[in-house]
Amino acid sequence: MKRILITGACGQIGSELTPALRECYGADNVIATDIADPPACLKEGGPFKIVDCTDINAIGWIVKKFQADTICHLAALLSAVAEDKPNLAWKVNMTGLYNVLEAAREYECSVFTPSSIGAFGPTTPHNKTPQDTIQRPTSMYGVTKVAGELLCDYYYKRFGVDTRGVRYPGIISNETVPSGGTTDYAVHIYYEAIKERKYTCFLKKGTFLDMMYMPDAIKAAIDVMEANPAKLIHRNAFNVTAMSFPPEMIAVEIKKYIPEFTMDYDVDPIRQAIADSWPNSMDDSAAREEWGWEHEYDLPKMTKDMIDVLTEKLRVKT
Ligand code: SER
Repeated sequence: MKRILITGACGQIGSELTPALRECYGADNVIATDIADPPACLKEGGPFKIVDCTDINAIGWIVKKFQADTICHLAALLSAVAEDKPNLAWKVNMTGLYNVLEAAREYECSVFTPSSIGAFGPTTPHNKTPQDTIQRPTSMYGVTKVAGELLCDYYYKRFGVDTRGVRYPGIISNETVPSGGTTDYAVHIYYEAIKERKYTCFLKKGTFLDMMYMPDAIKAAIDVMEANPAKLIHRNAFNVTAMSFPPEMIAVEIKKYIPEFTMDYDVDPIRQAIADSWPNSMDDSAAREEWGWEHEYDLPKMTKDMIDVLTEKLRVKT
């Protein structure tokens, strides 16, 4: 049975991966950590500790105390906020990962940590972006993600730490709203469509990006951690995707449920430049071949679920 420590448990992915891992491996075997106070469900659903992953002693202490054998390292700044606060992004995204890898080396843990479509850049082929290709990102977020991929590879080759990871696309979810990301519009649009019947998009029409619904993102994390190592040619940073669309395509799907919905555009030049440097669509065949990655949700199926769940949730709250 695994003993899993999660960093960044209160973030967009952590708030849903934590309960999923507790369900799979037993609540007492999964300790959630974050620098933020947790919502009641995370605190009551199993062990929780305030831990700052940029503090190497704190990370080492909790790994040892909990006798963790696996670390899911999710604490990170997203792309737009990293562009605004590059020093902090380096500290959280790089120092945090380094500390986790060091703790994993010392206490013999395996590590799952996500990379991102942000690890690609303007000189990367934008359509069907291959698994192994040019990676010269131009954002601080991207710099930390490529360096993180390399550092994970290094800890595996040099020290035998069992590091695994995926390059997530934009993740769409209805539990915790992401903050400071370039793909966040694809979450906000559903909330605004239900509450206001209109949305002003910060990316321009025609901006294709890879996306994934949270249940598939959770499945990808668990499946890659459970994958048979003998079958892995890559270890870290597998391209994984479920759909690729521009803003106007989500709007069309939403209109099927909310016909009066309208969308206009007020482009944020910083996030638009980041989005323009990222792939339009990734080729995730390596993940499909090496560990059987399969997504379940496409845009229509995800939209139906988002609208059903959020309509209920927002009605309760108003
Ligand atoms: N969702 C992330 C962002 O927009 C990309 O991985 O920053």
